[in-house]
Amino acid sequence: MKRTMKRVIAKSFVFAAACVAAGDIHLPKPVTQGGKSLMQALSERRSARDFAGRDIPVQTLSSLLWAATGVNRADGRRTAPTGLNVQDTDVYVMLASGVYRYDTGQNALKLVNPGDHRAAAGKQPFAQTAPVNLFYVHDRSRGMKADESNTQRYAGIHAGAIMQNVYLFCAKEGLATVARANIDYDACAKALRLAAGQSIVLGQSVGYPPNDGYIGRQAAIRTALERAKFHESEVGRLKCELDREDGVMVYDVEFKKNGFEYEYHIDAKTGTVVKAKKERD
Ligand SMILES: Cc1cc2nc3c(=O)[nH]c(=O)nc-3n(C[C@H](O)[C@H](O)[C@H](O)COP(=O)(O)O)c2cc1C
Repeated sequence: MKRTMKRVIAKSFVFAAACVAAGDIHLPKPVTQGGKSLMQALSERRSARDFAGRDIPVQTLSSLLWAATGVNRADGRRTAPTGLNVQDTDVYVMLASGVYRYDTGQNALKLVNPGDHRAAAGKQPFAQTAPVNLFYVHDRSRGMKADESNTQRYAGIHAGAIMQNVYLFCAKEGLATVARANIDYDACAKALRLAAGQSIVLGQSVGYPPNDGYIGRQAAIRTALERAKFHESEVGRLKCELDREDGVMVYDVEFKKNGFEYEYHIDAKTGTVVKAKKERD
């Protein structure tokens, strides 16, 4: 397998429905060190309801999910606490490419429903276009067993702990987010293909804030094709994703033509071509 392809599989998964073949997503190792101080993140924590159209890089998504409720100890305990460590709440992730369940043990997104189901994400329009919607889903079979009211109360608390972890990660990462209870729960449960005993406690939309100065995916593709002197209709397997390379955000544009594979890195802010590569396919 070519180095370029290995790289694509390992770290360059694009979420846009147009670019992704639906399947499980194996997440890269989350980054669990560094970032803003806790007090700074708390100072910056807030709800925001406007999102740029661009996707969240898979590395950032991996760290976000780990912050939400990832395993942080050898015995399988998590970043978010649960009463008696019942771990009764799953995080479902709705992207343009499909609905997935975050598998904390495997650090993977398990595909549960391919396709763009964001119309069912919530009643507020921003939820239907946000690049990432998280849903905190309670599984009664794993919940606190004492009595029904206890089960419900704990389910809410458990989702709340995850929600605040996500808020703090977003504050640290410069992402916009808002918790959401304003959901058509039946429609959304269908999109999430929930079984009996599973229920959505809360949703949370996540994305980049608008006007972040990035040129956008279409402009990056245009720049790469201009550099190669091809028209979009002439190339195959066109992919474009936002990625971080040596600390700089770039659009990684790839396509194939006449037995060659082309790869361009376009600086996400300036639109400059910072890398151009052509190799036999
Ligand atoms: C449980 C819960 C449910 C919420 N549901 C919604 C919602 O459906 N739609 C929305 O726009 N904001 C929702 N919010 C966000 C609140 O409106 C927001 O947290 C509140 O106005 C305080 O603003 P702040 O988060 O910036 O401090 C929800 C917040 C919580 C904690």
